[in-house]
Amino acid sequence: MSEPIIAGVDGSRAALAAVLWAADVAARRACDLRIIHVMAPPVHGGKPYERPLDDAAREEGERMLAEAAALATESRKDVHVSSELLYGHTTEILRAQAVEAEAIVVGSRGLDGFPGLLLGSVGLGLAGHVAGPVVVVHGAPAIVQGEIVAGLNPDDAVHPALDYAFEEAQARGARLRVVHAWDMPSSRPDQEIITQAQQERARSVLAPWTNRHPRVEVTVSVVRGNPVAALCEASARADLVVVGSRGRGVIRSAVLGSVSHGVLHYASCPVAVVRPRIRTD
Ligand SMILES: Nc1ncnc2c1ncn2[C@@H]1O[C@H](COP(=O)(O)OP(=O)(O)OP(=O)(O)O)[C@@H](O)[C@H]1O
Ligand SMILES: [Mg+2]
Repeated sequence: MSEPIIAGVDGSRAALAAVLWAADVAARRACDLRIIHVMAPPVHGGKPYERPLDDAAREEGERMLAEAAALATESRKDVHVSSELLYGHTTEILRAQAVEAEAIVVGSRGLDGFPGLLLGSVGLGLAGHVAGPVVVVHGAPAIVQGEIVAGLNPDDAVHPALDYAFEEAQARGARLRVVHAWDMPSSRPDQEIITQAQQERARSVLAPWTNRHPRVEVTVSVVRGNPVAALCEASARADLVVVGSRGRGVIRSAVLGSVSHGVLHYASCPVAVVRPRIRTD
């Protein structure tokens, strides 16, 4: 049996959209769905209690879990759904839980934050910190597009996004659009030749995945311009955008590269940020 998909809930609409998305993926992958709500334990004298004393808060947490579980079961009757109330710091607890999960799914926003905030602290605290896919869902998807988008930089040493992107495309019977954006002055006369060469490089990097997933229809888009803009533009016609957690940018120590960071904020569909499960650097 594969590991479960985890969804985090806080009573917000975005979290329920994350639950529905997670239930759908769990059904396709034939794995269980675990819904988690994390409660901060009450603090007394600067120290958290072992157990929360506030029954009202616990009941409220249990009510929101029951609502989320009922929604998941109603949407996908074939999925085994469980729920759990845990105590502690939300991001820390979810990071620990994600170690034994197929993927962890959260809403882009929750109940806190402020109007106009694009990405809450939980999505930001998980993406790049957790090995495997972290999926951030921005509201309920309107229609099924039948396309998954993956960002590719052929210069990267590893391509953790490709495993998940190909698996999801195969599980959904969706097309896969691999987007590679590159930037250089428009005055260069050899742009056609460079685009052609980039296409070929991308195709050769993709070869192991296309061989493993012969039924996935793959399109390679080589785009001149900023990668965040190119991926967000493609996200308007996609069901999911998949990116790695970090490329080979200037700040090597950063957990989240600028492309993943930008896509998480501005994409118009759910975003999966994938960090390799085994450290390769
Ligand atoms: N206590 C929690 N337990 C489990 N999942 C949570 C919890 N809080 C938030 N989440 C998950 O994270 C998502 C984003 O919420 P998040 O808290 O990051 O944003 P926010 O409340 O808008 O802003 P802030 O970062 O100020 O809290 C939610 O949709 C939900 O999926
Ligand atoms: Mg919050």
